[in-house]
Amino acid sequence: MEEEILRLEGIKKSFGDKIVLKGLSLSVNKGEIAALMGPSGCGKTTVLRSISRLIEPDDGKIILYGNDITHLSERELIEIRKRIGIVFQGGALFDSMTVFENVAFPLRYCLEIKDEKRMREMVSAMLESVELSGIEDLMPADLSGGMRKRVALARALVYNPSFLLLDEPTTGLDPQTARHIDRLVANLSRKYNVSAMTVTHDVVSALGIADRIFLMKEGDIVWQGTPEEWEASNDPEVAAFLLGTKSIRQRGNAP
Ligand SMILES: Nc1ncnc2c1ncn2[C@@H]1O[C@H](COP(=O)(O)OP(=O)(O)O)[C@@H](O)[C@H]1O
Ligand SMILES: [Mg+2]
Repeated sequence: MEEEILRLEGIKKSFGDKIVLKGLSLSVNKGEIAALMGPSGCGKTTVLRSISRLIEPDDGKIILYGNDITHLSERELIEIRKRIGIVFQGGALFDSMTVFENVAFPLRYCLEIKDEKRMREMVSAMLESVELSGIEDLMPADLSGGMRKRVALARALVYNPSFLLLDEPTTGLDPQTARHIDRLVANLSRKYNVSAMTVTHDVVSALGIADRIFLMKEGDIVWQGTPEEWEASNDPEVAAFLLGTKSIRQRGNAP
């Protein structure tokens, strides 16, 4: 049997009287890239925030690396979080810090590495992996959108996590830059043997890099399968999602 790295069982989450997740279940195997798709507002970011336990679900279970982390305290989560890399929506970097300090941040503050020379080496090797050698001294404001995403990816991978979470890593990028990010995510997850879950609106991206696709609608999974099954599918939920993304593009405000 394949080794499961993540299992969500019946996750429910409300904010005030708004029910955002309605008993959602999914699982991801070791080494797999999963794509979580769905229209804006359906709860994708809330799923990622639950997995990294930035929020605590109201009901259900989160099993990560075989541990039930659903109700762990912040202190108990420290060790778990060291094994998760996150690229947040918008790829937010610390704008007042150089690229070096951005990528070194988790080494300094999560792994508490003190050896500056070793840290320089780790950051520079990681920047090389995302094809951005030698930009350590630049500021985020000096970078293009695609470069910022690659620095965010370097920061998420530098401490060698076993699970990578990406929230809309290609949103707002031109198609060529988006495919470059896809290629890096696919290659690096293989190279460093990390499983990944990417949240995306971008069907091309999901079909290109995912082993398994989960389609969400209004707080629950309505379809799942491989990219091949997606392309062959005549499921009404898949069709409705594709139609929705197309009509958004036609209105000229593609996400
Ligand atoms: N902290 C929060 N407080 C209140 N409402 C929230 C919060 N986080 C998310 N929501 C609401 O939950 C719904 C799903 O949000 P989100 O998970 O960000 O969706 P998606 O990432 O799919 O666009 C939205 O209606 C959003 O306004
Ligand atoms: Mg979101």
